Amino acid sequence: MARLQILRYPDPRLYTVARPVAQVDERIRGLVDDMLETMYEAEGVGLAATQVDVHERVIVIDTADARGSPIVLINPELIEKSDEMMLGDEGCLSVPEIYDKVPRHAHVRVRAQERSGEVREFDAEGLLSVAVQHEMDHLLGKVFVDYLSPLKRSRIKTRMLKKTRDEARA
Ligand code: NI
Repeated sequence: MARLQILRYPDPRLYTVARPVAQVDERIRGLVDDMLETMYEAEGVGLAATQVDVHERVIVIDTADARGSPIVLINPELIEKSDEMMLGDEGCLSVPEIYDKVPRHAHVRVRAQERSGEVREFDAEGLLSVAVQHEMDHLLGKVFVDYLSPLKRSRIKTRMLKKTRDEARA
């Protein structure tokens, strides 16, 4: 396993639309394992392949307090979405230290392939529902700050560019 580099907003590669995974093979399982290691190392609750500059429809999520039962979503689809919406406080490993509220469906039903390639469906609510929608947005080239006002977004952009500059200098 290897830790991968996470792209930081506003890196233009975050705006790439991911393509479907044609076959869940050893290469994809290797990517999944590297993404899990990267997510746990960075203490995130989710990571999309887009964020590590791999533009294929792969997501890992672990929202549990006791970590270690990750959910792997390959070629995920939302097959049901509640009309009821919720506001979760979202953050993103590509936008460190920024948290804000984004409206999301309170409940979703997800269909995706697992690490084995098997298809499964499950219902998600609360934090898991938010995480699934947040990570699926990444696969479409969308970052959660794109939901915020242009003013907020421009402040975040400035802050992230400064952070990246400061780190390069350190
Ligand atoms: Ni994110």
